[in-house]
Amino acid sequence: MHADNPQDLFLSRVPKADLQLLRALGALADERGTTAHVVGGVVRDFILGLPNYDMDVVVETDATDFAEAAAALLGGSVKAHTKFGTVVLVLPEGRKVDLATARSEVYERPGALPTVTPGTMESDLKRRDFTVNSMAVVLNPDGFGTLLDPFGGRGDLGERILRVLTDVSFEDDPTRILRGVRFCARFGLSMEPVTEALLRQAVGERRTDTVSGERLQNELKLILSGDDPWPPVFRLIDWGILSAMVEGWEPTTAVRATIVEIDRLLSGADEIGDPAPERWLTLFAALLQPLPPAVRDRVVERLSMGRRVRRLVGELAEFERDVLPALSADENPLPSALHKMLKRFSSETLLLARAAAPGSPTAERVALYSSRLVGTTTELTGNDLAQMGVPEGEAVGRILGVLLDARLDGEVSSVEEEKTLARGLVETLTRGTGTDSVAGE
Ligand code: CTP
Repeated sequence: MHADNPQDLFLSRVPKADLQLLRALGALADERGTTAHVVGGVVRDFILGLPNYDMDVVVETDATDFAEAAAALLGGSVKAHTKFGTVVLVLPEGRKVDLATARSEVYERPGALPTVTPGTMESDLKRRDFTVNSMAVVLNPDGFGTLLDPFGGRGDLGERILRVLTDVSFEDDPTRILRGVRFCARFGLSMEPVTEALLRQAVGERRTDTVSGERLQNELKLILSGDDPWPPVFRLIDWGILSAMVEGWEPTTAVRATIVEIDRLLSGADEIGDPAPERWLTLFAALLQPLPPAVRDRVVERLSMGRRVRRLVGELAEFERDVLPALSADENPLPSALHKMLKRFSSETLLLARAAAPGSPTAERVALYSSRLVGTTTELTGNDLAQMGVPEGEAVGRILGVLLDARLDGEVSSVEEEKTLARGLVETLTRGTGTDSVAGE
């Protein structure tokens, strides 16, 4: 086989085990008087030489019936519908194949989900977003491996071009605005000029207004979770895609530097918190940080963001209001005071605080907290204190608090020193005069 031959281009890159599986599905399609094709992202990725484990197969017949016949032949089971018209064939060794019925789609209202009717393989490719995603490979024995490429996806892939199939592609499904930005970044594609003009027009017309929050959120998360999210994020800002989605979502230019610094910190050797901050979440917070509270809330509502983002937005406000003034003051806070200030914040909020003002006292103090202070503990435990005669209850917690502060501030550095300090505190306490001093505030 030679990979320059379109017939073999795909097959030469499919793992051997998958090849057997695809041949079996093709033979089964023949037997049942239908066609089977592998289609979409997996064809694109194999042509690019990239791994892709999402095997999408389209049949010109009922996908559930076909999947059940395949399961009877190959073993395995058929799992519930994932999306309309699609089922998952789970093979004995855990390999999964998504099976769908070939379909035609009509978009009755821009942005709404399309009306779907059964169709041919040709109509199924026609409904898709970009040429590079609109290729299929024949699985039936006669022609096994033939590339179906009615829109020139292979040529576009070779030239690294992202191109829509029709002038109304972004109107039909405005999530393709975000998908287009993502695919360009992910595969190093440049947007063909007409495609870019259509995309920008759809943005100008605020076509995303008709898309549900969940769908926009999913697409944005995919961009922010990508290997190299910075270029597409910059494009979202530069092309006004964020502000088209939510009025006023216009991060200041400073957000660029913040985003670059988040990247540096995430890939560097510095301690940045435990659990490690989640990249997409930190980036999302960076895109909200420069906004007034009302716009932050609007973004969260519009994109139907979940609990974690809502909590993070609350934290941002709390951090700015309660902590930032003290943290950026001239005077260095004691480590124990720093610990008290910062311990209630998530590692995402702390990373963002550092990234937003690199080299500032705030960044240095948060870095000190994340690298050294956060993991500090006392050597003595509550049990040790009980053995030393501290009555169970509130006093144990208070004494441990005083010991921790002393550890943080370098006043004690060994278990012996902790014991000495604890004994003094216990004595004060048992004399009955010490509750306030043990409180240690
Ligand atoms: N598709 C489309 N329009 C959309 C979503 C999907 O045309 N809004 C089509 C494309 O042909 C795409 C296929 O459905 O290749 C599968 O979609 P999806 O799984 O989202 O994307 P992939 O291309 O498989 O990319 P990924 O590897 O990110 O899953």
